[in-house]
Amino acid sequence: MKTAVTILAENSTPAPAFIGEYGFSALIEVEDHKILFDTGSDQALYHNAARLGIDLNTVDAIFISHGHFDHTGGLLSYFKQYGARPVYAHSGIFVSRPLPLGGNNFKEIGCGFSQEELLKAGAKLHLRDEFSSIFPEVYISGAIPRNSQFEDTGGNFKMVINGETQDDPLLDDSALIIDHPEGLIIVSGCAHAGVINIIEHARQQTGKSQVLAFIGGTHLITASQERISHTIAALESPLISKIIVSHCTGFYAAARLYNALGERVIKGETGMRFEF
Ligand SMILES: [Fe+2]
Ligand SMILES: [Fe+2]
Repeated sequence: MKTAVTILAENSTPAPAFIGEYGFSALIEVEDHKILFDTGSDQALYHNAARLGIDLNTVDAIFISHGHFDHTGGLLSYFKQYGARPVYAHSGIFVSRPLPLGGNNFKEIGCGFSQEELLKAGAKLHLRDEFSSIFPEVYISGAIPRNSQFEDTGGNFKMVINGETQDDPLLDDSALIIDHPEGLIIVSGCAHAGVINIIEHARQQTGKSQVLAFIGGTHLITASQERISHTIAALESPLISKIIVSHCTGFYAAARLYNALGERVIKGETGMRFEF
C-alpha cells in the first residue's frame, strides 16, 4: 500500500528555502487519496508545499487534529485558494480557549473561527467524535480515552463553556490512523491525549498491535522527567518501529527519546518526507 507523509509545516526545518512555523501540517498520501493533516498557524504550509512541488489542489480531504490555532491557522486560506473540500474533525474544535498568562491576562489560542464561518468558507464539514473510516484503510480516532496513569494534556489549558472558564481536557484531540499491511501509521497533531493513549486507542480500534510509525507532535515539551521515563518504557516495545517526533516535543524530550531508543527516533521537521 503506497503511503507517504510529508511534513509541510513544523516549528523548524533542516533545509534551506523552507519556512519553519510554530504548529504542524502534513500531507498524507495513501494510494490515490491525499489528505491535508492540520494547517499550521499561518501561511508556511503554502510556501513549503510550492517549494516541494506539491499541488495542494489535489487534496481530497482535510483533517483537523484539534482546535488550537497552530493547527487551524492556515485552514480558511485553503478554501480561498482551492475551493470547497471535506473537512473532518471532532465537534469540540470550535470552543474558545483562553490561555492564562498570569494575573488577568489571557491569550486566545483556539481555532479563531466558528463552525458557520468554516462552512461559509467552503468546508464540507464532517464532525466525527468516534473512531471512523474516511478512506479505505484510513481512519480518524475520534475522542481518545485517557487510560494511562502518567499522561496529561501537557499544559494549563482552559476553555469557555456557557460563559464559564474551566479546565480544558482537549477532548477534541484526535489522530489519523492508517492501517498499513506492515503496521499502523499514526499521525498526531499535538498528542494532548497522550502518545501512549493514542497508540493504545489505535490498537484497540483496529485490532492491530504492530505500529509502523508514530508521527507528529507529542506535547512532551512540558512533561516531567518521570512522565518521559514512563513514555520511553512504553515505546521500548519491539512492536513500535519508528517514532517521528515534531512540533511540541521539545529538545529535552526528543534528546531523551533518541538516547533511549536510538535510530527508531527521528526528529520530523519541515520538508521531510517519509514513505512506507
Ligand atoms: Fe500544537
Ligand atoms: Fe495543541
